[in-house]
Amino acid sequence: MTGIIETEGVTKRFAGVPAVDGVSLSVSSGEIFGLLGPNAAGKSTMIRLLAGILNIDGGSARVLGHDLVIEREKIKSEIGYVAQSFALYPELTVAENLEFYSAIYTPISREKQQLLLKQFGLQRFAAQRAGLLSGGYKRRLSIACALAHDPQLIFLDEPTAGIDPVTRRELWERFYELAALGKTLFVTTHYMEEAERCNRLAFLHRGRVVAEGTLATIISSFTGHSVYSVASAHNAALAAGLLAMPEVLLLNQFGDRLRVITDSSLTPESLQRVVRRHCDAAIELVEPDIEDVFMALTHERGRK
Ligand SMILES: Nc1ncnc2c1ncn2[C@@H]1O[C@H](COP(=O)(O)OP(=O)(O)OP(=O)(O)O)[C@@H](O)[C@H]1O
Ligand SMILES: [Mg+2]
Repeated sequence: MTGIIETEGVTKRFAGVPAVDGVSLSVSSGEIFGLLGPNAAGKSTMIRLLAGILNIDGGSARVLGHDLVIEREKIKSEIGYVAQSFALYPELTVAENLEFYSAIYTPISREKQQLLLKQFGLQRFAAQRAGLLSGGYKRRLSIACALAHDPQLIFLDEPTAGIDPVTRRELWERFYELAALGKTLFVTTHYMEEAERCNRLAFLHRGRVVAEGTLATIISSFTGHSVYSVASAHNAALAAGLLAMPEVLLLNQFGDRLRVITDSSLTPESLQRVVRRHCDAAIELVEPDIEDVFMALTHERGRK
């Protein structure tokens, strides 16, 4: 096993119901690995398993070369973890939070703490209570705290949820800097443009991996489907007409264009015929993008 993370059939059940169901993944050193999936897909549970916070019920895994079951404590000290609902000490100042987290495992120097504050744009808030920071700055601080013992592997559970686009870009610059230093990042996100920033991805659906690889390989292996762009603003009758076709999997409206994901057995002529019944819109066969693939692979059975 050469990866920083290697899992084989990892399973976790809550009250007998699998939240993570036979997940096999491999993450390499210096990689930014993205885990995507709809709500309740099992992303946070997977991170908590790999971070040694929860016990696995089945399968096996090695994290940073340590066995996840028998060497859990070693793993905990070598990783950083930013939880989805992250915890800071609101009564401590920004600088004190960082110092506290640094002290838990291998403390870093004051200089390095200062550098972290600077890198995350927190210097001017150093003496302010963490509880008074805005949501975005709390998140920056929680990421800085997770880095305060200089971990090799960092788990970030939706690190940019609710973050403005400029700050999100800045955080991603930090993530790239960390990866360039040889750190490995394991990130969950719901933002498709962030998926495009990862080196490799896995899509999780109901606890199972439904696609894995680079963005390009995931998109190119999305066979059996076609994606059409229909030049139509929202049109309820058109939508109902399209969804009545058994080959139409799902629709996604973007302003005055409707994206239609179909089974590839549907001919453009048949689609155009149904569209014409409702409006005069042209249809265009387009390349699938990451959102199309994600939507199709995580689409629940039964029509919506
Ligand atoms: N401690 C727990 N006890 C019982 N059920 C749990 C527990 N933690 C998670 N679950 C269940 O496991 C499933 C997966 O949850 P998880 O939080 O891993 O999903 P997620 O992919 O992170 O979702 P989201 O995008 O909403 O954060 C859900 O059905 C959830 O209710
Ligand atoms: Mg989650």
